[in-house]
Amino acid sequence: MKICKTKKELSAVLALAKTNKQSIGFVPTMGAIHTGHTSLITKSKSENDLVVCSIFVNPTQFNDPSDLIKYPRPIANDMQLLESVNCDVLFLPEISEMYSPGEIWEHSFGEIELCWEGAIRPGHFKGVGQIVYKLLSLIQPDKAYFGQKDFQQTIVVKQLVKDFQLLTEIVVCPILRASDGLALSSRNIRLNELERVDAAKIYNVLSDCKSQFLQQEAISTIQLTAENALKSIPNVQLEYFAIVAQEDLKIWDSTKHMAPIAIVALRFPSVRLIDNMVLE
Ligand code: PAF
Repeated sequence: MKICKTKKELSAVLALAKTNKQSIGFVPTMGAIHTGHTSLITKSKSENDLVVCSIFVNPTQFNDPSDLIKYPRPIANDMQLLESVNCDVLFLPEISEMYSPGEIWEHSFGEIELCWEGAIRPGHFKGVGQIVYKLLSLIQPDKAYFGQKDFQQTIVVKQLVKDFQLLTEIVVCPILRASDGLALSSRNIRLNELERVDAAKIYNVLSDCKSQFLQQEAISTIQLTAENALKSIPNVQLEYFAIVAQEDLKIWDSTKHMAPIAIVALRFPSVRLIDNMVLE
């Protein structure tokens, strides 16, 4: 695996690939690589000639400074995992490589950046948009791969591609889960043993929600049952649970919307988790 720490080094590798008419797949990450990420690399390898993965803990998307400090950075292990799935190129820039001092980036995604995650983490999606724009402009991949676990992020990134008329195709890949159902996330390592067991209940709630939806239970009943079940998980603070439209993240209305998705965010004392499940 070739490691590039600067844009210049990466551009040289990419220029050669482009001269050789190789297609480029891109998997952006913030590191703490797990099976969810490696599955994105594997998918990208199956669809492209050259796969670039970036590891960059992007400061502009953290509205909580302590979350940024605590974000895991097991770089040696990350590199091993990327090698194990034959990632071709790792882009590993320093902050100064990606941002100039005092830089301001203004782009409004409208309502989709302000609701749900955006309401709880103000400015988060602006930061995601800012770095994803820089990475996509630099790498110009044919396809970029994102996990469905960050569902709202995938909507924002698709909007970014549309707004800036970028040529990259955004590929959204299914959530990978542990055997007990917990969605894989870099933050899971911050759960203690008891919390880890309780965290699997999120999947049970989402699965029940889906069964009830398929049995045509009233949405208000599904909402209430899910909220009560999530609130009964010990030491958990429920931030939101909602059944929303996949296209615009507004509360799902069968007369207006197509496919619904249940989204949830909750906080354990040591970590905040999000998850979702498509209901149809
Ligand atoms: O999903 C992530 O890990 C990050 O939000 C991303 C897309 C790498 C941007 O920093």
